[in-house]
Amino acid sequence: MDVFSTGTIGNLEIKNRLVMAPMISNLASPDGNTNEDHIAYLEERARGGYGLIITEYTYVDELNGKGSPNQLGMFSYSQTPKFFRLTERMHKYDSRIFVQLVHSGAKALQGLNTKKIFAPTAMDYMGNVPQTMSIEDIINVQEKFYRAADIAYKSGFDGIELHGAHGYLLEEFISPALNKRDDKYGGSLENRLRIINEMTENIKNYYDIPLGIRLSLYENDPDGYGPDYGLKVGESIRKIDYIHYSAGRFAPPASSAPFYYEHNHIYARLPRRPDKTTILVGSVINAADANEILKKADFVATGREALADPYFPYKLLHGHNPRPCIRCNQDCRRLGLNEVRCTVNIDTGLELYSTIRRNKKLIGEIEIDGAGIKGLEAALYALSLGLKPVIYEENVPGGQINDILEPHKRTEFKALVDYYLNELDRRGITVEKSRGTSGIDCSPDKVYPDIKNMGDVSINTNIYRYFDDALEISKKNTVIINPESLEILERSRREFYIKLAERQGIKFIKQDSYNINIFDKNQYDIRSAMISGRRAVDSYIMENYDELN
Ligand SMILES: Cc1cc2nc3c(=O)[nH]c(=O)nc-3n(C[C@H](O)[C@H](O)[C@H](O)COP(=O)(O)O)c2cc1C
Ligand code: SF4
Repeated sequence: MDVFSTGTIGNLEIKNRLVMAPMISNLASPDGNTNEDHIAYLEERARGGYGLIITEYTYVDELNGKGSPNQLGMFSYSQTPKFFRLTERMHKYDSRIFVQLVHSGAKALQGLNTKKIFAPTAMDYMGNVPQTMSIEDIINVQEKFYRAADIAYKSGFDGIELHGAHGYLLEEFISPALNKRDDKYGGSLENRLRIINEMTENIKNYYDIPLGIRLSLYENDPDGYGPDYGLKVGESIRKIDYIHYSAGRFAPPASSAPFYYEHNHIYARLPRRPDKTTILVGSVINAADANEILKKADFVATGREALADPYFPYKLLHGHNPRPCIRCNQDCRRLGLNEVRCTVNIDTGLELYSTIRRNKKLIGEIEIDGAGIKGLEAALYALSLGLKPVIYEENVPGGQINDILEPHKRTEFKALVDYYLNELDRRGITVEKSRGTSGIDCSPDKVYPDIKNMGDVSINTNIYRYFDDALEISKKNTVIINPESLEILERSRREFYIKLAERQGIKFIKQDSYNINIFDKNQYDIRSAMISGRRAVDSYIMENYDELN
């Protein structure tokens, strides 16, 4: 079996083994409907070759099941025409599309819902205490899943995935730490799975499309369950056509591990190949990662890599390197308020307005001065428009990425530079080792002051690079960091960083003043460098429009 062999889930044939994992996009409309922004985002991944695409978690209960703003919802038959448009667009590329159905349980946001939040057991969920569900509540929720399943079936979805992972309602029933019920829905494994087994039985009685469940193989929380229990749960759920393993409940790294963790980190903890068709996810970034997953599973899901490069399958098929997700957990994880974006792919979430022009090609050369991320992105962008870039750089290509000293981050971020150089090399473009002065200026827009050679320091900042510098400085000097500074880092990255920093003697102390106070609301990072690179090319085209057409 390889990633391009045909696979089956239940009675459904899927053209390859590559699955786009369900990911919150917040691209739907405030009323929960799909729209062109949302469809274009998914369609780009279908065009990129994914055999199966699973939508983001989609709420079934409009009264107390919503977990994020602009979340996709499936709760009314008036939605079927637009959903039909969505499924039709995926089928155009011979991709299959499943909907992931969720009730957010205790993780639902009260502000987005009109009815009081509930869970299997009332307990403290990170500061919120939901109501305990009555038997009537359980039956009600099941009815809402059935209604959504019916809408999915009638709208042309090829399959249904129940979201039983990541601390949402169904996982709250599965998790021994969260389910303390003493009725028929708690106590034993059979009882904890009852709400799910009743639903799978009913849904499969009515619909002949594949039905699966997403599960956390393990929870990282101190009172969480381990992989043996996660495997047992998957194998004990009846009437499902597949299990989809992710990981995590609340504690970091939850499901999306940052660059401090190995690739295939969930695969490493799966005890063996499960006895049902299995999809497995977890930091798959390249062909080697994907092939390894198939040793224990039937399908490979990529989450963030599908955001970084929608053409991941296509590139694997043709032996090209995909644009790597650097597992920074920056722009894709601001989902409390924002739509999905990606630090290394500035078109993600904006597919409808992509500046890559697909049809009309320009003619001519463009000189690019500088081969940092800004210049490298400018070069690839110019190529996509038909122009031949000539790149000048007197130093090592990669610009400020080369200054990263922290080894985990350096390895992952350098892969992005390698991606650019490979892509250029493949098209016969090399970087000229000299200082360019007459092309478009691709030197960095901002360079923050270098603090690495300072002695003892106290730091108050939101600039990412200073957190790495602090690790370096602390090897010889005392370093104090304002704990509030760390709010810029995504939760799992933050927690890992704190452990690493404390091991090196860094102290997190709130004090009246710090000798480094550097904040930038519009921080210049990889994504801004890319945007700036494309903008420089666009300005050049505007100025030289006649010669280039
Ligand atoms: C932006 C984002 C949104 C996510 N939303 C969902 C979701 O709606 N449902 C779900 O089951 N998992 C969700 N996840 C978890 C991913 O599906 C996946 O399990 C996780 O990111 C690990 O895979 P990766 O390392 O390939 O990204 C989300 C992850 C990301 C990065
Ligand atoms: S924002 Fe970072 S972690 Fe998220 S998909 Fe993009 S590169 Fe990966």
